[in-house]
Amino acid sequence: TTVLVLNGPNLGRLGSREPDVYGAQDLDALRALLEAAAPEGTTIDLRQTDDESELIHWIHEAADTGSPVILNPAAFTHYSYALRDAVSLVTKAEGTVIEVHISNPHAREQFRHTSVISGVATGVIAGFGFESYLLALTAIRRMH
Ligand code: DQA
Repeated sequence: TTVLVLNGPNLGRLGSREPDVYGAQDLDALRALLEAAAPEGTTIDLRQTDDESELIHWIHEAADTGSPVILNPAAFTHYSYALRDAVSLVTKAEGTVIEVHISNPHAREQFRHTSVISGVATGVIAGFGFESYLLALTAIRRMH
């Protein structure tokens, strides 16, 4: 299996972006952690985009291939109904999309307390730094 690990806007700046909130490690470090944790026969396909349309197309790709998805929607979490609809079409068809966050949005500003994605995600993991992604990978392994 291939696990798609999709990251939304500004996450390409991990490592230098607000390290007090998001840590000092970058996306390449995250990829390496996931690859080290992936079971034999599981490929990690980690991507990042600042573009809502591109992210939606990647979710459509998962709908076509059946690949499980670990999704950090970043700020799109809080307002993108288009991304929500894309996630919904996957999960309503028995696909897996796990919403993850590095920080705990509920412990932050009010606007981060709402996720328009959570209601259609398979599950949500937030607040554990990069470990959130590793926990999601474990969940996928145990579910599939
Ligand atoms: C985030 C939390 C979001 O509120 C924020 O917009 C991000 C990152 C996280 O991983 O903690 O860009 O999704």
